[in-house]
Amino acid sequence: MTIRSVVAGTGSALPKRRVDNEELARQVDTSDEWIVTRSGIRSRYIAGEGETTASLATEAARRALEDAGIQTSEIDLIVLATATPDQTFPSSATKVQAALGIDDCVAFDVHAVCTGFLYAVSVADAMIRAGTGRTALVIGAETFSRILDWEDRATCVLFGDGAGALVLRAEEGDRGILATRLHADGRHNDLLFVDGGPSTTGTVGKVRMKGREVFRHAVVNLADVLGEVLSDANMTSEDIDWLVPHQANARILDATAKKLGLPPEKVVVTVDKHANTSAASVPLALDTAVKDGRIKRGDIIVLEAMGGGFTWGAAVLRY
Ligand code: UT7
Repeated sequence: MTIRSVVAGTGSALPKRRVDNEELARQVDTSDEWIVTRSGIRSRYIAGEGETTASLATEAARRALEDAGIQTSEIDLIVLATATPDQTFPSSATKVQAALGIDDCVAFDVHAVCTGFLYAVSVADAMIRAGTGRTALVIGAETFSRILDWEDRATCVLFGDGAGALVLRAEEGDRGILATRLHADGRHNDLLFVDGGPSTTGTVGKVRMKGREVFRHAVVNLADVLGEVLSDANMTSEDIDWLVPHQANARILDATAKKLGLPPEKVVVTVDKHANTSAASVPLALDTAVKDGRIKRGDIIVLEAMGGGFTWGAAVLRY
């Protein structure tokens, strides 16, 4: 029998403070109408004092462990995707490990911005199948609000904070991750980036984005990678029960679903409530659709994301 990485549980966490478009429009030169029409976003959550990437990640991880009925002592591996770690080092994964009271396991961060969670899932799946460990916590967590330029209305209205987590467990059978595909093309790193860093400016920096160009690349790259990953899994778009996409923009979600020939009711959309939470958006959306009962055991789920670098990727799994 084939060993696969099965999703044993999901969890998520959001900061306490919810900020809707009207509240934002009182501080920034924008309007609810512009934000909703261009992006589909109606609100986002913004981390307050004491809320950090690692604290949100820990809360999401606890919920995923509880959902899976798994003890912290069973965790062999923590892979945390983030572009907004608590500190330059140590990794936020080791902060989550300590907060969960785990004395020894493999723990590290991966950084592929909005595609981070797809990279984390792919790496954890490969390590599980290679026998490095049997049980993994895979987390996407961000506090993008801390790297936004609140004077730049073209970016600050689009992002939010949050965390999502999966417990992946080695099991024999036909459930689990069936295929993953990852890509990167660093020639485009000037279209979506942060203008600071430890080795250049010595500052944290702020998000800069040429939104229209990112949009154009996103639609093409996502259609391509979805075609590749479905072919790897010997499937077509007709086999998909749920598409759980990166939540950057409702218009990108619509365009991607249309290219796949997928009806909108099979696409999980949370961008209206959470905005773009970068590496957290896919696991947040997945947990939302699992907890509200839409996603059921045995369903075929396709995950996808595209972000800074550029990076992009997709995964097919039987839940
Ligand atoms: O997660 C990583 C991947 N990221 C993405 O996928 C983002 C992809 N890009 C997008 O989602 C869209 O390009 C945006 C939502 C960022 C922007 O939509 P757009 O239709 O491409 O608008 P635009 O940037 O071309 O701006 C149109 C106009 C401009 O005014 P002029 O020059 O036409 O007079 C902007 O100054 O809208 C103006 N504008 C705003 N107006 C009100 C830009 N931001 C705002 C704002 N409120 N917040």
